[in-house]
Amino acid sequence: MGGKNATETVLADTAGIARAAAILERGGLVAVPTETVYGLAARADSPEAVAKIYAAKGRPSFNPLIVHMRDVEQARRLADLPSTAETLAELYWPAPLTMVVPKRADADLAPAVTAGLPTVALRSPNHPTMQALLAACDFPLAAPSANRSGFVSPTSAAHVAATLDGRIDLILDDGFACTEGLESTIVAIREDHSWSELRAGPVDLDQLHKFYWDAPYKRAKTSNAIEAPGQLASHYSPGKPIRLNAKNFAPDEFVIGFGAVAGDCTLSGKGELNQAATRLYDCLHLAAGSEKPRIAVATIPEVGIGRAINDRLRRAAA
Ligand code: TXA
Ligand code: MG
Repeated sequence: MGGKNATETVLADTAGIARAAAILERGGLVAVPTETVYGLAARADSPEAVAKIYAAKGRPSFNPLIVHMRDVEQARRLADLPSTAETLAELYWPAPLTMVVPKRADADLAPAVTAGLPTVALRSPNHPTMQALLAACDFPLAAPSANRSGFVSPTSAAHVAATLDGRIDLILDDGFACTEGLESTIVAIREDHSWSELRAGPVDLDQLHKFYWDAPYKRAKTSNAIEAPGQLASHYSPGKPIRLNAKNFAPDEFVIGFGAVAGDCTLSGKGELNQAATRLYDCLHLAAGSEKPRIAVATIPEVGIGRAINDRLRRAAA
């Protein structure tokens, strides 16, 4: 580690996963693909290992981490799961769905993972590499997105290297771009079974609510400082000014298109929101690397996953 040495990227095959597990075992940092974005993993039960995540990312210490686990059985060791959370985990996991639930008093977690909160964020990722790694480790993995704090999230091994090269021990590369392309939906579930969305993402909570939930439904309008400490207004930034809902474009703007607007790159030529979600961070990385000093983004409809796309774009522009 340290600024000078380049971080090695290895294929996420059996040997690569075994090496990653050994590095994690002794408290190191490994970037690993998930179905949402690349995560920067460390063992969640080690204060030293978790401290390295905050240092490598330059992440503020008040911003807690998501703990990744194999299944609901492992989740029960860390949290007092309200029955709503049990049901949801059994129906949906592995999935891009993170649940913020009451932490167990005896949870074997480094205190920094939860940044002093009485709750913990849990997710079982739906990705073969991350699942293979979790199976190879006998501890859960704390993993924020694998980017320097505030910068655009990574959906490929190259994106990870763009901001963390030399700062972490290993990058596992499965050769694909992350399929969902946006961070998991985060839902807080309380003892009284009320719940609220802390971050929009691939799992649409409105749909979910229609089919499964009788519990009182409260959607947080804006993120609340205590429940969603990491939802900083400025985030996902490509480091230059961004204009949203753009209809006309200046020659010095890198244009991110959608549908009829072709742009310098497009989120989806056919105007498909799922494809736009998958491509969002790649387009922002391209825009960051372009010579053009400003960025303009075409209008994205505020429906379904479009809500999550616009949430990330607003933070990128803040
Ligand atoms: O898809 C994802 O969720 C990715 C992959 C790697 O799993 N991870 C990710 O982590 O997006 P990160 O650190 O970039 O975002 C975690 C979010 C932050 O906004 C943080 O504040 C929130 O989860 N969070 C974590 N623990 C929390 C808690 N106990 N209460 C409320 N929010 C919490
Ligand atoms: Mg992040």
